[in-house]
Amino acid sequence: MATPTTHQLARASIADAKAICDLVNTFARRGEMLPRTMSEVYQNLRDFYVVRDETGEVVACGGLHILWEDMGEIKSLAVREDQQGRGLGARIVEACVEEARELGLETAFALTYRPAFFERLGFTQADVMTLPRKVWGECYRCPKFPGCNEIAMVRPVRP
Ligand SMILES: CC(C)(COP(=O)(O)OP(=O)(O)OC[C@H]1O[C@@H](n2cnc3c(N)ncnc32)[C@H](O)[C@@H]1OP(=O)(O)O)[C@@H](O)C(=O)NCCC(=O)NCCS
Repeated sequence: MATPTTHQLARASIADAKAICDLVNTFARRGEMLPRTMSEVYQNLRDFYVVRDETGEVVACGGLHILWEDMGEIKSLAVREDQQGRGLGARIVEACVEEARELGLETAFALTYRPAFFERLGFTQADVMTLPRKVWGECYRCPKFPGCNEIAMVRPVRP
């Protein structure tokens, strides 16, 4: 199904925070992604893109989080179930990759249970241990560490 032209990609604003949190946690409750608190969403709000439908409702979200001088992580990517398969997830990922390129990062990566989606968008699978700043900066504090089964997917962003 084609991306609906009525749906607009935009930078998230404060008014979107609750919708982002609800959207992410709908999937987190099913174990499909990591949960986010309102505090985490507010503190990282400037990372986020949203897609709003014709009524202005947030139907998709996700963002690029700078991890270090050379890499950024695509985080909290979620598309409302009835809006999936319309190119919205791809639109957000491409916005994140473009932003990573503009910032001068070398690599964009995601930790995901949906590696095939990221493969469609030019990412390849990597050993998470090749991302030591992620593992030793964040993952080791996660209750799932070291038994996490999310898959690391990476994409070079340099032209
Ligand atoms: C994974 C997710 C973000 C994909 O978003 P989406 O808007 O449905 O995906 P798109 O329509 O942009 O798909 C882009 C391409 O990826 C493919 N694709 C989408 N989901 C896929 C999947 N699970 N497996 C394989 N390919 C997939 C599409 O067929 C499309 O391919 P095409 O270009 O050949 O048509 C969405 O399904 C979602 O929010 N899932 C629940 C939460 C989640 O798992 N988030 C990821 C956390 S990192």
